Amino acid sequence: MRTVLYNCGPMIHFDSETPLVGKQLINDNWIYSAGKAIIIDGSQIVEILDSGDAVNDFESHMGKNDSTKLYDVKNKAVIPGIIDSHSHLVWGGDRSREVRLRQQGKTYAEIANMGGGINSTVLSTRALSENALFEISKRRAMIALSNGTTHLETKSGYGLSVESEIKLLKVAKRLQLDAHTPSIDSTWLGAHAVPKNHTQESYVEELISNQLPAIAETGLARSADVFCEPGWFTLDESEYILNEAKSHGLALRMHIDEFCDGGGGELAAKLKVDTADHAHHTSETGRQALKNANVNTGFLPGTPYSMGTEWPDFNSMINTNAPWTIASDFNPNNQVLSIPFIASCLVQRCKVDPLATLAACTINPSFTTPHNSGLSHGKIAVGAIANINILQSQQWESWCLTPGHSPVDATFMAGEKVNEY
Ligand code: NIG
Ligand code: FE
Repeated sequence: MRTVLYNCGPMIHFDSETPLVGKQLINDNWIYSAGKAIIIDGSQIVEILDSGDAVNDFESHMGKNDSTKLYDVKNKAVIPGIIDSHSHLVWGGDRSREVRLRQQGKTYAEIANMGGGINSTVLSTRALSENALFEISKRRAMIALSNGTTHLETKSGYGLSVESEIKLLKVAKRLQLDAHTPSIDSTWLGAHAVPKNHTQESYVEELISNQLPAIAETGLARSADVFCEPGWFTLDESEYILNEAKSHGLALRMHIDEFCDGGGGELAAKLKVDTADHAHHTSETGRQALKNANVNTGFLPGTPYSMGTEWPDFNSMINTNAPWTIASDFNPNNQVLSIPFIASCLVQRCKVDPLATLAACTINPSFTTPHNSGLSHGKIAVGAIANINILQSQQWESWCLTPGHSPVDATFMAGEKVNEY
């Protein structure tokens, strides 16, 4: 089945084989001016033509190829399907009460020690059935899709036992199989916190001897992640867990330096993980190590937004040649499912260029969270999967200028129109 999207407005294509770094991020050569058509065959983009030629070509085939569908984009701007490369989608419960504790000056660690934080979500998540968690998570995934997200990386980490971590990863698998939600890349985050019935030492041992082998056996996770942060998992523990995960065939990701510089940048560089996320407090040496090792820095601006803390210096990344991404970090503390909102934080609050910001959630994360089909994504190019957002506006910059509501008019996922507003 062929679909022709014609009369496209300005289109951001990001047709690149590598992540964009430095000045490449703000190069207007990634923009086609209005007047293109995208030809889709099945789930894949097969041609990008001038719109007039595409329509003539279609008309000359009329009658012979009745299965071609025409879609008039009406000169609206077009951007790739958005990739959310770091989220915690599957959990139950509610931690809204923690907002007042934060306003009273309690830190994340203090709230956790008072019975809140990750371990309180673990209790409420364990109490829910797989079906109940699936319904909650599907609703979240649909909200992400309505904001233009066509692919989501999501982590376990609110089970913290063999049985409940597997339950969370099964929910992610069911989302992956659901044609109405973004495609899913699953990560095991058993090392998210130490559960109540364990000491630090006994839990690390449990992770290595029981949880990791059981998870690896199910094949439900592509990657492993660790919350490497003073007070959670040390550098040595993180290195141990990630090396073991690697020997079980898992790819590696990390949470580093969220609240302070704990040397996470240096370790992420040493282990050459796919992405080192948060990294808000990573030292200059740590950043240099990440750059030298060509390890992606994954900024999660929703966290400082929700916690009321400072933004990192995103613009410094445009002045270096290090790869970086942005993602939602959707979690009980930071319930942001809209990447255009996250982008508004960069563009409207931190003076980051809107094209660079778009690259940070499309082409760049396509290399840290590949599409399950094996096709490239995060771009509008021949051979890529047809994940495409048509915006409401005829100006592409509008993609991140509507905080509080979605800028998207219609979304195509694997060649199918999945949403129209
Ligand atoms: O990435 N920092 C660790 N994990 C999550 C937050 C988890 C939670 O507070 O429930 C994050 O921000
Ligand atoms: Fe996270």
